[in-house]
Amino acid sequence: AGFITVDLSPMQEGELKTLQWRGKPIFVLKKTAEMKKNENRDVVAGNKNYTVIIGLCTHLGCIPTWVPAKKEFLCACHGGVFDASGVNTFGPPPRPMDIPPFKIDGEKLVLG
Ligand code: FES
Repeated sequence: AGFITVDLSPMQEGELKTLQWRGKPIFVLKKTAEMKKNENRDVVAGNKNYTVIIGLCTHLGCIPTWVPAKKEFLCACHGGVFDASGVNTFGPPPRPMDIPPFKIDGEKLVLG
């Protein structure tokens, strides 16, 4: 129970999708070539083609907003910033956004 399966094949590079899983927002971002080159996070914990993170700020739990023009997530509560991999780069968040348990098989995401 609690598993969800999502077809990622319609996603474009640089596109963000927000899913709901166990009452939490989950951000799925299809990385661009540039994001892969600038990867700031251990891709073993994540995925080389997609960022999959729990969309809650690690400061006090607000939901950050994806800013496509800057390719980063901004938390409006206290100005926290996270890069495209969900790594905190500015402001009060003490650590990267968490990675949920997931698997990606081809273009199929299984969360949970
Ligand atoms: Fe996000 Fe404070 S809750 S910066």
